[in-house]
Amino acid sequence: MKLVFIGPPGVGKGTYAQAVSERYGIPHISTGDIFREEARKGSELGKLVKEYMDKGLLVPDDLVIEIVKRRLQETDCRNGFILDGFPRTLPQALALEEFAKPDLVLNFIAREDVIIERLSGRRVCANCGAIYHVKYMPPKVPGVCDKCGGPLIIRRDDRPEVIRERLKVFHEQFTPIIRFYEERGRLITVEANEQAPVVIPRVLSILEMRFKESPRSQSGK
Ligand code: AP5
Repeated sequence: MKLVFIGPPGVGKGTYAQAVSERYGIPHISTGDIFREEARKGSELGKLVKEYMDKGLLVPDDLVIEIVKRRLQETDCRNGFILDGFPRTLPQALALEEFAKPDLVLNFIAREDVIIERLSGRRVCANCGAIYHVKYMPPKVPGVCDKCGGPLIIRRDDRPEVIRERLKVFHEQFTPIIRFYEERGRLITVEANEQAPVVIPRVLSILEMRFKESPRSQSGK
């Protein structure tokens, strides 16, 4: 099950990917999370990518492609993966065809006012990366991660001026990618305006119909 989740910033890719990862036992690989972790550690890569991320710009293709290629060679990707936030440009999509051709691409869509509200209220765990929303998916204790007890923080790129830039970059880059996967019959568009408890079952049922495999939770593994 080699999956790609694409769509605008804040549409909920990471939220739905977490649910699919738990259900099917395949890793959720977010290029944004990889870069944020490197930035947090202060590595050379982290310092480089932080400059792009803080402005809402894309990290150069060569760098992202190499990182994803290496990550997909790890053993946990043997039975599949969910790529969240990659590919984002046509050169990235072409490269992915060469080293790990995706079976299915889910293209999430939502209205811009919905997206902005989601990004403005997002909180993430500084420790494990779990995603919350102050209104729609609040933690049990404000500011504390339900899963690991870590502190919840606001992402640096969720500032209003950076959100605007990220949406602009998204609109510039995405039409060719959508067309690329549409032409190959591997794209399904998923309406994501509703709350996560509605969208997540929608995603899982698309996957169950498409792959007809027992989810890990049902097989008891
Ligand atoms: P990345 O981390 O990938 O950010 P993004 O694509 O902008 O997506 P987000 O993580 O912001 O949103 P999401 O759709 O995952 O939404 P989420 O589930 O969190 O990339 C960051 C940066 O890294 C880029 O700007 C770029 O610089 C760089 N980068 C990354 N990949 C790259 C690449 N391939 N090439 C070049 N550069 C790259 O949900 C958002 C909020 O809404 C949360 O609070 C959540 O709780 C809530 N929510 C989610 N779904 C629902 C729902 N249905 N109803 C109500 N609330 C919801």
